[in-house]
Amino acid sequence: MAEAHTDAPSKDDEMRLTEAEIAVHWKEEEYFHPIPKFIGQANLTDPSIVERFSEKNFPECFREYADLLSWDKYWTTTLDSSNAPFWKWFVGGKLNVSYNCVDRHLEKYGNKAAILWVSEDESEPVVAITFQELYARVNEMAAVLRDFCGLKTGDRVTIHMPMVPELPVTMLACARLGVIHSVVFGGFSGEACGARIVDSGSRVLISMDGYYRSGKVIDHKVAADIAVKKAEAEGTKVEKVLIWRRFREKSASSTPLVEGRDFIVDELLKKHAGARVAPVSMPAEAPLFLMYTSGSTGKPKGVQHSTGGYLSYVTAASKFIQDIHPTDIYWCMADIGWITGHSFIVYGPLALAATTVMYEGVPTHPDAGRPWRIAERLNVNIFHTSPTAIRMLRKLGPDEPKKYNLRFKCMTTVGEPIEPEAWLWYYRTVGRSQASITDTWWLTETGGFLCSTKPAIDPMKPGSTGPPMPGIYPIIFDENGKEIPPGSSKAGNICIRNPWPGIMQTIWGDPERFVRQYYGKYNKDKNSKDWRDWPWLAGDGALIGKDGYIRILGRIDDVINVAGHRLGTKELESACLTVPEVAEAAVVPIVDPERGRVPEVYIALKPGIKADQAVADKVTKAIETEIGKIARPRTVRIVPDMPKTRSGKIMRRVLASISNSMDYGDITTLANPEVVEQIRVQVQGAGPVEKKAGPEDIRRFGETT
Ligand code: PRX
Repeated sequence: MAEAHTDAPSKDDEMRLTEAEIAVHWKEEEYFHPIPKFIGQANLTDPSIVERFSEKNFPECFREYADLLSWDKYWTTTLDSSNAPFWKWFVGGKLNVSYNCVDRHLEKYGNKAAILWVSEDESEPVVAITFQELYARVNEMAAVLRDFCGLKTGDRVTIHMPMVPELPVTMLACARLGVIHSVVFGGFSGEACGARIVDSGSRVLISMDGYYRSGKVIDHKVAADIAVKKAEAEGTKVEKVLIWRRFREKSASSTPLVEGRDFIVDELLKKHAGARVAPVSMPAEAPLFLMYTSGSTGKPKGVQHSTGGYLSYVTAASKFIQDIHPTDIYWCMADIGWITGHSFIVYGPLALAATTVMYEGVPTHPDAGRPWRIAERLNVNIFHTSPTAIRMLRKLGPDEPKKYNLRFKCMTTVGEPIEPEAWLWYYRTVGRSQASITDTWWLTETGGFLCSTKPAIDPMKPGSTGPPMPGIYPIIFDENGKEIPPGSSKAGNICIRNPWPGIMQTIWGDPERFVRQYYGKYNKDKNSKDWRDWPWLAGDGALIGKDGYIRILGRIDDVINVAGHRLGTKELESACLTVPEVAEAAVVPIVDPERGRVPEVYIALKPGIKADQAVADKVTKAIETEIGKIARPRTVRIVPDMPKTRSGKIMRRVLASISNSMDYGDITTLANPEVVEQIRVQVQGAGPVEKKAGPEDIRRFGETT
């Protein structure tokens, strides 16, 4: 493709080492094998799935996934590539997602818990919601959305809520009507929520008055007011704000309601008590939801997921990789505000009639034994969490798991690479060497897992995600589009050669960016209708071992993975630039033993401005306001100038090397090489470079810039 690929990793970066140039050395880890007891009960034990999903059977192999769902109308075409790369799956088929996650289970599992909700406040009792009760609540909420808000199929709704059962109820109510939901992570600021309201064109915002976080009740309604104001300032009028109440009897917020705009959901529900709303039969390729995520530009992108393809894919991933049966008690400790929560707290597990556990608060509140107490009490047998949570729980309470009667049969990790050391603690101390662990690699864009071991079939290898999922055909390319073969110990840009049902449909409102960002780098014929011409660029550096296991090194673009959450450096930099004193800003990742990566900010001030702590504090505050506390930088460093290329590009890689005590390499081609040593002394002191990390270490976690 001829146009400039502004979102794709840039080629003009004179000093960048390409992934392919870095030989990655790591110790081969030993294999661990699933135990017979697990294999004996597993959903997927037949290794012929690999053959069934091999390229010669593509795309029809994915019928097997779609057949896990209940269709109102069976599809006619499995994959339509006529408008590549806007793939359409299961064309002609019709179904409803809320019907598949709720109604269809009523006959057999109506009296079984669908959701077990755990408050952060340990004195509050656990709330159990059966499928029958979930059905009633989803219907009543759907009636509110349809009859009170006037929402209809194809409208967008922004949901900014904490981890409470009312969140999946609201999502499923949207899905019942074919209304597209856009859930914004509850920890994001009002401004960040407002920007997403504008981009999605939502007329309705659904929020909550407050929630528990680290033992305190947070006033969340404030964020709704800020969001609406921000949206209005940018030309989008929010007509109605629906506020759920955290406590029935009292308001958790002191922020007043705005007359005629804000409505308490419980009061609206009273008027629709007992309402039943027929699920709208949606085309398989109708959008189900938007999930905003960070990319290489300052503006988060609305990743659009489909109805039939997405639900088929996450249902299959939940069944075959997480080994979910209807009788299991399954707990994914993520937040529903991220893709993991959408796919693996709500849609996948509920489509399989599992009992899904939701926890409101911080895993280490009030102590590092909390998750294990929850697991013991609720008899959780499948557990899903992130390496950051594992590292944190291990650090704060290495022996805590031993105090509880844990009986996990399988456990999952997601979001970041996991070090073998943390993996072994998870396996031995949490899993009692009985549980199969799957390290699942995927992205917001992919709907569900792309790589993972099949828990009853493949041995586990700490630190490697595993082989590709059935029907996923990865390839590693170097910068020039040449394949780096498996077993060559060179890393490159991982791509998936084929589309799959869970793949995003487009970027909401920006199809060109979608094509450019994911296909711009390796597609050679933009008119091709053959899927083989459209390798999908994941945005991670990776390599494939001799055994076919894939090791993910981290992002190759301007994305920092903080505690398993994606933050765009450009987003953080634009937040810094809202501070009037700041002339230039550069954000780099620093290696952190618990959170994987944390952002560090470099700023250069406008002429005549004094460098003092007050400016640095303003920058931190601006980041918290524009994005949220999750993006808070470790340090804000005020420097005399940024290291720049002759074309004026800030060399973030040099700054990242300094922040991480690494060699900054050859800087002779810079426009201002002298500033580099000045910054190094400012950050590391006057002594010689204390080399803490080597290029392999930083590559393990990504970032090249
Ligand atoms: O760098 C990869 C990392 O998380 C990124 C995707 O982030 P997000 O879209 O927020 O989705 C997170 C949950 C799916 C990827 O580009 N990542 C995700 N899973 C793994 C991982 N890195 C290594 N190992 C994993 N298992």
